[in-house]
Amino acid sequence: MPVPLLDLKPQYAALRAEIDLRLREVIDSQVFILGPVVARFEAETKAHSRAAWATGMSSGTDAQLAILMALGIGPGDAVITSTFTFFATAGCVARVGARTIFGDIDPATFNLAPDWVEHYLRTVARRDAEGVLRTPAGDRLRAIIPVHLFGLCAEMDRFLALGREFGLEILEDASQAIGAEYRHADGSVGSAGAMGRFGWFSYFPSKNLGAFGDAGSAVGTRPEDEAVIRAMRMHGMTQQYYHEVVGGNFRLDAMQAAVLSAKLPHLDGWSDARRANAARYREAFQAAGLTERIQVPQEPFAGRGLRQHHIYHQYVIRTPQRDDLLQFLRAAEIGCAIYYPLPLHQQQCFAAWGGRAGDCPQAEAAAAEVLALPIYPELTEGQIDEVVARVAEFFRSR
Ligand SMILES: Cc1ncc(COP(=O)(O)O)c(C=O)c1O
Repeated sequence: MPVPLLDLKPQYAALRAEIDLRLREVIDSQVFILGPVVARFEAETKAHSRAAWATGMSSGTDAQLAILMALGIGPGDAVITSTFTFFATAGCVARVGARTIFGDIDPATFNLAPDWVEHYLRTVARRDAEGVLRTPAGDRLRAIIPVHLFGLCAEMDRFLALGREFGLEILEDASQAIGAEYRHADGSVGSAGAMGRFGWFSYFPSKNLGAFGDAGSAVGTRPEDEAVIRAMRMHGMTQQYYHEVVGGNFRLDAMQAAVLSAKLPHLDGWSDARRANAARYREAFQAAGLTERIQVPQEPFAGRGLRQHHIYHQYVIRTPQRDDLLQFLRAAEIGCAIYYPLPLHQQQCFAAWGGRAGDCPQAEAAAAEVLALPIYPELTEGQIDEVVARVAEFFRSR
């Protein structure tokens, strides 16, 4: 039985009447750019993400770009982030003229390793005569961008503490993690995107909350930052045709906001379903005796009283036989994909930053071993069992 990596049709079928009605309302209103439908979605995302504000943006990428521009991060500046993430996280840094310092990952969670960052800040970075923290190349360190990869929050307490100690902004790439929760050491609950100063979500159609095109949100924890991002998404305009700074066209459109508003009330339930699918995979892989051969996703925050301790945007296993398994599953029509095959420090477009094979050994090993399996909420138990049966068949044939 073929199993697709992702099938968006059942979700649309379940919400078709509601979504079509809301799209029709936008068409009838003929208000396509910003307006009340976008404002409503912004109020809803602000509440859902527990942020101080939420601003609808044209994509996750544009949200990050606007945030970096608002902070004035540019030439002569450097930002630390994970080398094992989607391209945009570092691409935006390059686009504003700054440099990315690529950090290695924790091999169990695939997230940026706090130990790597701490080591870099304490032993590689240096304060100059004026007390400015600089990279060995002389760039001024401005921010750390933890990425909540695959729907699991990074170790935010460590990054927040490092940010305070070293005077760095903490900017969360929560593109894959809308609704994911984190338990702080003081017992309070943090929500992805709303723990650092700024965060952003992507509503690319395959995300847990997916638009009918490109869309995103910028969120933040300081009320005074909201107006700056709102201006940024409108070419830096604060009053009609008066521009204090240069921004861009980073606006969310009303058609996307209408779809997203219809879907948002269902998001937590869909993430619950993804987690239930992950639990079934875990049990089935254990029952098949496969947990010695593959590493299943880790859940470091499970059992801490959090509902959304992992939202499973992707369900990623690890095995040294990844390439053969991928070919085997594809031949059996089981959807699977590699996120991501080449860490960012090894990408050709960043060669000028001097990254080399061996710089981030954990990320390089992960890139050779990771494989994402189907996890979307509407996946049936029979489909999960089929995927596990095929993986078991592969290992039996070895
Ligand atoms: C980790 C990460 N960062 C950034 C982005 C960029 O988001 P978008 O595709 O909405 O621009 C994505 C999604 O594609 C992502 O997964």
